[in-house]
Amino acid sequence: MADGRLCGASAGIGRAVALALAWQGAEVTVLARRAALLDALLPALREAGAPRARALVADLDDRVRLEARLRDHLSEHGAIQVLINNTGGPPVGPLLQADEGAFLSAFSRHVLAAHLLTRLVLPGMIAAGYGRIVNVISLSVREPIPNLGVSNTVRGAMASWAKSLAAELPPGVTVNSVLPGYTDTERLVALSQALAGATGRTVEEVRGGWVSAIPEGRLGRAEEVASAVAFLASPAAGYLRGVSLPVDGGRLRAI
Ligand SMILES: NC(=O)c1ccc[n+]([C@@H]2O[C@H](COP(=O)([O-])OP(=O)(O)OC[C@H]3O[C@@H](n4cnc5c(N)ncnc54)[C@H](OP(=O)(O)O)[C@@H]3O)[C@@H](O)[C@H]2O)c1
Repeated sequence: MADGRLCGASAGIGRAVALALAWQGAEVTVLARRAALLDALLPALREAGAPRARALVADLDDRVRLEARLRDHLSEHGAIQVLINNTGGPPVGPLLQADEGAFLSAFSRHVLAAHLLTRLVLPGMIAAGYGRIVNVISLSVREPIPNLGVSNTVRGAMASWAKSLAAELPPGVTVNSVLPGYTDTERLVALSQALAGATGRTVEEVRGGWVSAIPEGRLGRAEEVASAVAFLASPAAGYLRGVSLPVDGGRLRAI
């Protein structure tokens, strides 16, 4: 049975992905910084179908400790066949106001953390002849989002990392990405508040503006992004490799 492994699973999309993997009967290990939220999630994961659900409290910004924790986890609990790269988005703000540190920190938390985790779990995937790596990135890979300059920049790097990796992984081990559109989570609340503050509009007006550009007529739900991730993480997605799949209610106008 595949051992699901999640990053940033204490809230939002990652939490929903953990539950979706548990419904598939996978063993699930959830990783984030907030131990209390992870502990609170474990009973729901066990009830959903992952009796050996576990929490791994770690900070993706601290790769030295992250590596040590994951090595211990792998030697104690065995190999991982499903890795979901998901973490918190970079801070909101115009590109020109961002300092160097903001780029370095976002690159580190997204690309370098995913790269480290992948290299650590890959030997187990290769030995099993089966592996799925799924990245939660953003629609901004295809169309930059205003006021998210650092995020837009780093998402492009993450998508290129994934596409490069797709050509190097052996048969049976795949990498794909999901590009969420506007999805109703803590992250979107923070984004709407920041945009409201910056533009003098209300939060409702900001959210209404987003919705007006979405043919489906509403914001996305974390569970809807999670369904796409769970599919890409399943054996059924065996011939998909290196795709970036928007889950956005039709927001993206490009083909
Ligand atoms: N919501 C949207 O509309 C939307 C749209 C496009 C893209 N995205 C992207 O999709 C991803 C998930 O979005 P979301 O809305 O679910 O975000 P969220 O609600 O802010 O949740 C982020 C998750 O990442 C974890 N995390 C943050 N920093 C971490 C760190 N240094 N180490 C370990 N875990 C960390 C958080 O847990 P802890 O705080 O407990 O560590 C939390 O579980 C983000 O990259 C986001 O930018 C979201």
